[in-house]
Amino acid sequence: MEQTLTGKVAVVTGAGRGLGFGIARGLAQAGAYVCITDIVEDELSQAAQEIADDGGEVLPIVADVGIYKQMESVVERVVAQWDRLDALVNNAGRIHFVSFTETSPALWQNTIDVNLTGVYNGVKAVWEQMIRQGGGHCVTIASGASVRGFVDEVSYCAAKHGIEGFTKALAMEGEPFNIAVNTMGPGKLIKPTGITRAKAAALSPEEKAAWVDPLTLAPAFVWLFSQVPGRFSGQRFDAGPVADAVLAEGYNFEFTPEKVTLYIDEFVERLNQRKSWTTLPGK
Ligand SMILES: NC(=O)c1ccc[n+]([C@@H]2O[C@H](COP(=O)([O-])OP(=O)(O)OC[C@H]3O[C@@H](n4cnc5c(N)ncnc54)[C@H](O)[C@@H]3O)[C@@H](O)[C@H]2O)c1
Repeated sequence: MEQTLTGKVAVVTGAGRGLGFGIARGLAQAGAYVCITDIVEDELSQAAQEIADDGGEVLPIVADVGIYKQMESVVERVVAQWDRLDALVNNAGRIHFVSFTETSPALWQNTIDVNLTGVYNGVKAVWEQMIRQGGGHCVTIASGASVRGFVDEVSYCAAKHGIEGFTKALAMEGEPFNIAVNTMGPGKLIKPTGITRAKAAALSPEEKAAWVDPLTLAPAFVWLFSQVPGRFSGQRFDAGPVADAVLAEGYNFEFTPEKVTLYIDEFVERLNQRKSWTTLPGK
């Protein structure tokens, strides 16, 4: 992978395995200093070791995205180590497949805490630092459940839809500070959420072949973080098509909405809406 993020600093939450690990590994391979967080300590250690084995500079921190103080401490430690924080990937997620009838208040609360409040906590913790340093990127992992409903996923769909509203509104407030706020879906089939490293390793070759290695999606994040934050904000990207565009044309691929999202009409509508932001009071 080309070294396009040399000297940049990124935090990826929930990066002990799965998509978050693939993103973090790819960012490190592109030259970024990477802080990875998770609540599962042994998987986090394995992830850090593999990134270090690639030659990456990595800081693993056990932290729960649902607890604001822990995210605040992550940001403090990152800035103490590398003086800045250019990109936050809100990747940590949790899904309970359960009917609404069986969704207890505790289960609802846990899903919202991790998937939605976790995003607020991460972004809130980095916000002042990004303002101080003159800008940055915040991106949250989207899903089909961000835009459509699925049976047995009421709380997860509510959280993922909520992230889109959070992103659209906060992008407007981030604009004067040069902070981009976007979401990015995987855009290709990856192993289902919740499967541990051990379980994933034990899968049959046929099962493994059905899913892409998340590392192959990392170029989408490298590309996004290589853009000046003012170029795209309030958008919903998909990593699969972006990574394909990078593979076909390189990081300076000629932009069209088709190359960066599976939801083209929505993307174009948000691009058009953004034109009105400049008429907001105070701008
Ligand atoms: N797998 C899919 O098909 C798919 C599809 C669309 C979107 N996503 C999204 O991708 C993201 C990553 O999911 P994945 O599929 O790689 O799942 P995964 O279960 O493999 O990884 C999620 C990671 O988040 C960590 N985590 C869970 N709760 C946490 C908390 N409170 N604080 C910190 N870390 C926590 C887990 O320990 C795990 O390491 C999620 O946001 C998920 O919603 C996944």
